[in-house]
Amino acid sequence: MKRLVIIAAMVLAACSRDDSAERRARLPQNPTLAQLMHVADAKAGARRFGQCAACHSIAAGGADRNGPNLHGVFGAAIAQNRPRFGYTDALQAQRGVWDERRLDVWLADPRAAVPGTSMAFAGVRDPLARADLIAYLATQR
Ligand code: HEC
Repeated sequence: MKRLVIIAAMVLAACSRDDSAERRARLPQNPTLAQLMHVADAKAGARRFGQCAACHSIAAGGADRNGPNLHGVFGAAIAQNRPRFGYTDALQAQRGVWDERRLDVWLADPRAAVPGTSMAFAGVRDPLARADLIAYLATQR
């Protein structure tokens, strides 16, 4: 029985194995976004996207939910990726495209980045977690 528990624990550890600790160890203190993106892992980002999926689909042609479908959003003009989605005036007033920098600021704290946004999401504190998410978004276009 004890042995079974140990094996189960090992299998679990292997399945949920995320090398983020190793990747983090390769980073200097206060890494730049470029350094974070260098070690970012789109697969880890895909798993993290679970926390976005309640409001966002990401498959090509997926429906808008509470938030717009995010396919192709990386590199797209802000608040224009899904013309039929009801973006807020606050987001529409933003200029530019969703590049790594803009996404990083947005995902850290959407309501601080764009006061008045309807994205009711606290944000992702961990810079490496944001980098993983951005790497994932960049693959979905
Ligand atoms: C509670 C619902 C909710 C959650 C959770 C959420 N979002 Fe959003 N998101 C929205 C809404 C609503 C908007 C539109 C905001 C506006 O118009 O002001 C939005 C907008 C966006 C946009 C801009 C889209 C565009 O076309 O310009 C991006 C990028 C985005 N979200 C990424 C994410 C990511 C990545 C996550 C997970 C880490 C996430 N969101 C979690 C609701 C959510």
